[in-house]
Formats: sequence, C-alpha cells, structure tokens
Amino acid sequence: MSNLNLYGGEKDHIRENLNKYTRKAFKSLPKCKNPHILDIGCGTGVPTIELATMSDGHVIGIDIDVTSLNSLQRKIKETELNNRVSAIKNSILTMDFPEESFDIIWAEGSIFVIGFENSIKKWHQFLKPNRFLVIHDENKDKTKKLGLITKCGYTLIAQFELSDNLWWLEYYTPLEQLIQEFRHKYPKDSELINELNKDQIEIDKCKSNSVVISSFFVIMQKV
Ligand SMILES: C[S@@+](CC[C@H](N)C(=O)[O-])C[C@H]1O[C@@H](n2cnc3c(N)ncnc32)[C@H](O)[C@@H]1O
Repeated sequence: MSNLNLYGGEKDHIRENLNKYTRKAFKSLPKCKNPHILDIGCGTGVPTIELATMSDGHVIGIDIDVTSLNSLQRKIKETELNNRVSAIKNSILTMDFPEESFDIIWAEGSIFVIGFENSIKKWHQFLKPNRFLVIHDENKDKTKKLGLITKCGYTLIAQFELSDNLWWLEYYTPLEQLIQEFRHKYPKDSELINELNKDQIEIDKCKSNSVVISSFFVIMQKV
C-alpha cells in the first residue's frame, strides 16, 4: 500500500499556508449573501473548502484530475460540507453552465489551460450581472493581462502580488523538506517516490529560474 495519500495530505497542509491570500482576495469582494461560487481547476480543493468556510454559499469545484477530486470529496465529508460543496469532473475545455449561474468564479493556478484572455472572455457568460471573477495567476505578462480586463467586459476591483520570497518561504521550502522526509521514511514506495521526483523537478525548475514563481491575485467585476 502506497503512502501517496499520506504525502498528499501533508502537501495540502503546506498549500494551506497560502490560504491567507485566498482570504485576502475574498475579503476584497463586497458582502454577498449565499453566493453561488464556481472554483475552476480546484485540484484537491484547498481554496474550495476555504471559500465554503468563509462564505455561507454553495461552491462547485471542477477539475479533470480524479485523484484530486477524490481527495476533495474526502475533505467535504470530513468538514460536513456535503450540502454546500460539490466536486465535479469537468474540463475547462468543455465546461458549460447556464448563462448567469454564478456570483463568484474563482480560479487559482488553472487559467494557463486556455490562457488569461480566452478564460476571462469565456467565463464572462457564466457570471450573473455585476458579479465577480477572481484569478490567481503567474506574474508573467501581468501588465498585459491587467490591460485586458476592461476590454473583456470587467472592471478591476483589486490586485496584489505574491513575491518569489513569499513562495519560497511559505510553499517551496517546506515542500522540499517534506519531500526529503518522505524519501527518507519510505524509500521502497515506488509510487510515492515517483510523485516526490515530480515535485522535486518542479522545485528545481524554480531554482534554475526557468519558470516564473511570483504570482498575483486579480479581482474583477463583470459590467
Ligand atoms: C496548480 S493546480 C491548482 C489547484 C487548486 N486550484 C489550488 O490552487 O490548489 C491546477 C489544477 O488545474 C487542473 N486542470 C488542468 N487542466 C484542466 C482542465 N482542462 N480542466 C479542469 N482542470 C484542469 C489540474 O488538474 C490541477 O488540479
């Protein structure tokens, strides 16, 4: 039996270090009673659960990765949020909801799938009038991205950055320590080692400066 789930759970705790920024972005939205929220590319649902906890609303998390969705499903049970949170297998490439379904659309780390401009254009129809889109994306081309907001039918409410230093301190350094710990504890768990290797490759890319680490949240309102 692999210790993959155990590692996934610990990794999620590290991801939770970034929840304070999810909360900061959420707090910049005007108060909304019982919002309907769509979390696009929800993964294991760290922000999804946080959004449900902060709001009194209903949250749908969508993703294509079944293992991540199963993990979110377990969290929904553990937190007894079954009546307010659902995890659905659905791709960004094919997702279709009735027009004006949501008060808030949230996407952390998933906008790369079809790109910033395509995403904010396509998701516009799923928002109720005057409602909100929150994106957490890499800092690359940030000025250009911010310039697209009005062109695509939104106004800018707020934006803030998560620096390289912050990512190292709150995410990558603890993750690297966790990888080493699990490597040491379970050297014969090949499934786990495979996953640890993948995560280490991601960290090594960050170290070599071949990828952008810093990121930004942007909060927009549909006009
Ligand atoms: C960087 S993770 C972010 C997960 C989560 N939002 C978070 O912030 O912890 C990106 C997620 O996008 C998902 N994803 C990739 N392609 C997708 C697609 N075509 N449709 C839906 N989700 C997708 C991945 O499976 C992954 O869970």
